[in-house]
Amino acid sequence: MRRDPLIALRPWEAPELTSWGRLPMNAVDRRDGALSLDGSWHFQLVPAPGAGSGEWTRIEVPGAWTLQDVGDLPQYTNFRMPWGEFPPASPTANPTGVYERSVDIPAEWAGRRIVLQVGAAESVLLVHVNGHPVGISKDSHLAAEFDLSDVVRPGGTATLRLTVIKWSDASHIEDQDQWWHAGITRSVLLYATDPLHLADVTVRARRDGRLRVDCQVRNASGALPLGWYVTGALEGQLLAQDAEFDRFNAEDMRVSDFLGEARLRATVRDLRPWTAETPELYELTVRLHRADGSVADSSHHRVGFRDVEIRGRDLLINGERVFIRGVNRHDFHPLTGRTVTADDMRADLVVMKRFGFNAIRTAHYPNDPTLLDLADELGFYVVDEANIESHDHAHEIADDPRYLAAFVDRVSRMVLRDKNHPSVVIWSLGNESDYGANHDAAAGRLRRHDPTRPLQYEGAAKLDWSDETVASDIVCPMYAPIEDCVAHALSGKQTKPLIQCEYSHAMGNSNGTLADHWAAIESTPGLQGGFIWEFWDHGILQRVNDGRPAGRAGVGLYDNGVTAPGHRWAYGGDFGETIHDGAFIADGVVFPDRTPKPAMYEHREIAAPVRLTYDQGVLLVHNRQHFRTLEWLAAEWRLVRPDGRTESAPAELPDVLPGESAAVPVPFPLPNPREAEAWLTLRVTTAGDEAWAPRGTEVCLPQVRLGGTETTAAPAPVAGPPAEVDEEGLLVHPMLASPPVLSLWRAPTDNDEIGGMAARWRDWGLDALVRKVVGVERDGARVTVRAEYETGAGNVRHEQVITPVAGGLWIEESAELPDALDDVARVGSVFETVGGLDVLDWYGQGPWESYPDRSAGAPVGHHSLPVDELFTPYLRPQESGGRHGVRRFTLSAPDATGLAVELGAPSQASVTRHRAEDLAAAAHHDELVPRPGCVVHLDAAHRGLGTASCGPDTSAQYLIQPGTHRWAWTLRVL
Ligand code: GAL
Ligand code: MG
Repeated sequence: MRRDPLIALRPWEAPELTSWGRLPMNAVDRRDGALSLDGSWHFQLVPAPGAGSGEWTRIEVPGAWTLQDVGDLPQYTNFRMPWGEFPPASPTANPTGVYERSVDIPAEWAGRRIVLQVGAAESVLLVHVNGHPVGISKDSHLAAEFDLSDVVRPGGTATLRLTVIKWSDASHIEDQDQWWHAGITRSVLLYATDPLHLADVTVRARRDGRLRVDCQVRNASGALPLGWYVTGALEGQLLAQDAEFDRFNAEDMRVSDFLGEARLRATVRDLRPWTAETPELYELTVRLHRADGSVADSSHHRVGFRDVEIRGRDLLINGERVFIRGVNRHDFHPLTGRTVTADDMRADLVVMKRFGFNAIRTAHYPNDPTLLDLADELGFYVVDEANIESHDHAHEIADDPRYLAAFVDRVSRMVLRDKNHPSVVIWSLGNESDYGANHDAAAGRLRRHDPTRPLQYEGAAKLDWSDETVASDIVCPMYAPIEDCVAHALSGKQTKPLIQCEYSHAMGNSNGTLADHWAAIESTPGLQGGFIWEFWDHGILQRVNDGRPAGRAGVGLYDNGVTAPGHRWAYGGDFGETIHDGAFIADGVVFPDRTPKPAMYEHREIAAPVRLTYDQGVLLVHNRQHFRTLEWLAAEWRLVRPDGRTESAPAELPDVLPGESAAVPVPFPLPNPREAEAWLTLRVTTAGDEAWAPRGTEVCLPQVRLGGTETTAAPAPVAGPPAEVDEEGLLVHPMLASPPVLSLWRAPTDNDEIGGMAARWRDWGLDALVRKVVGVERDGARVTVRAEYETGAGNVRHEQVITPVAGGLWIEESAELPDALDDVARVGSVFETVGGLDVLDWYGQGPWESYPDRSAGAPVGHHSLPVDELFTPYLRPQESGGRHGVRRFTLSAPDATGLAVELGAPSQASVTRHRAEDLAAAAHHDELVPRPGCVVHLDAAHRGLGTASCGPDTSAQYLIQPGTHRWAWTLRVL
């Protein structure tokens, strides 16, 4: 066999070589009339580039081969490279996929320019057509186009061979925290244009209606012909003909012999500007005409008229300082990896909208191009990020001249592709790649291409937030503590907006302190928001029996975050990898099937368009939006009383401008403030159909307390036999399978594990407390039991005073924690019920899981759920299912028998089928065996969740202090 010249170049170890034979990136829309080459291709996997031929099989395009059972599986590492070679080298064992198919080239394409577009291939793409070497491309997340006109024959058949090399010099700058995959992951197209064609279109549209369209024109067959011209139509109105528009001006047309440039200008009157709240789009068609007027080429664009600028330390959209309620999004699907469909992406965005997000950072590469169409349409502010992350060798690469072209290429091609999207408001130079000359070079090129948008780069801004010389117009730290952000804003040294590019790490049961972040952001000029890390838990659906990814056959094998029997959500290590970073890949606000985690409800409330306040008899409705009135919303009042009643009344939302508030009458007679508490909730829904929510979709549930007291008085003792306790002082009770004992531990959350708390708790022995009864005293009907629990940080004294009261027992408890036990998970009681109690009815916060530092989204109310639905199936089992502010509950069987608990004060409580040690022992949800009874925790104190798996631990106010903790509760039989 002749030596393949593309292989001979050894492009996988040549960082200087970013492409060969590839056409310049552009924003011309080529989807109309294109031939899709998606579908089944011939495929073989060989062990290294240029290795002898393997066995042909078939594969789906687009789709990572690592998810298609061809013998190479996904591997997850956070930032360490999966192999030891230093940049720019890659390992000799280098899986290489050869894709082949034949294509009938339409006869009517004779004389036309024929272009192949490969949507994405990782990490090096080599293109051969009919045996001819055609081109090379790198950058796993941008399309590559090649002109095939000279190598195919219209009316004939062409053989396309796409060779994809998995590891390369480029892998070192694609070291993002995600699964390593390989293959062709986005669609492949073939299209034809006239030789005289639009080479690029750049649209700039301002909120005052000014529109400027710059067109580049080329002729593939040589010099430009004479007399060509360009027209544009906006919403069908020809730009050059309507009196409203400036006429296309011949002076604005520049022609060299091979590159033509034409500019269209217009001013649109009575404009509806684009914002994320009001994503108004106008259809633009640009046409390139030959001298005789016939159309040689055209391109469609959706235009949003909007301004983005930085003034002082504020990022302004259409002149308004908007809050950036963002989330980081990877292209992800549990069956297909990085291959996502338009429907998948729309579903992502719909969930984000419904939970109050208005911004997306395309972490950490340009996402599938359709995502931006959808962001334009549904309304999001996008930080578009270039595909550069050299995390493991960041410092070396940032200044390495061999990588200079790759940095510039990746940033500028992203800009060329995405510049016309109104949703894109900020460019990002990439992620976690230190800061060097290569970044400055890319920034320079970017600013020339697009002076209309700010750029950001965390690595440039991080060393000194006040340094104005670095390549970042925004201070965009990751996981900065709230206090640091506030201190910077108050320091007098802030010159740029502060918008965290990542904050509130959503791994497992997390996102503690989100409300505190937002309280600081909203009250501190200079702080504008941030992007939660991240949207997805990247669990891959895996068959447990053979360890293979389920792939496309897995459709329907999951629901509500839970996998079907015999399947599980795989994370790092589950595919037999020895080098991996475990469950760190599961750190999103949605499960791998897009089911929202409870933290989403927290975000929804914090981001709500409507907020209520009630102070000294004045009830205010606040419009928290930047651009919309409340007209698109409907609402209903609800009055929640502890006696079990919830009254509703229709609500009329006042006519309040964005950012303003209006007083409204309290819709119910005010409760007597000395009586039991009463809560007023406003259930807000969509009044009509929104693009992301049909009419009637719940938007938020703001709530205020109208008054009353939250504690329950001690019930009066009654005469009767004392409670039965055994010789160990343990309560014997017909409804309890195991008696209430002290609990100081929870199944460590990911935050607890990674933050190091779990290790301390194990050192102290809190996971296996040994109880020693010290004394049992009887005083009439009252029994006092004293016990001691030995820990590595001293003994904990625990006391239970059990008194018969009407219908049951009043149990007063105290626990004395020695000073050295200064940070425990919880202080409270744990007991287990007999089986058969399947439904929990409670009065307290809910219905969603909530914790002391994540309870803003769970209003007080009367809630009811099957016990099995209380538990949240975080990928790695951990503490879950808690409910904050619980006042009382019943646990009942279908025949209405069961038990009732009333707490002396609102407390953290949980009812699940799993002991903490069951959870801690399991690595995956499918390993858990539910217990027949319920495991009930009543916590006098529960440590906040924090975000210590990446970022600050929970704030001090949510930690548990040593000293004496007291709590009380009644236990009754139903
Ligand atoms: C950041 C990084 C993300 C991810 C996150 C932790 O440092 O940019 O890619 O690794 O931490 O989950
Ligand atoms: Mg990283």
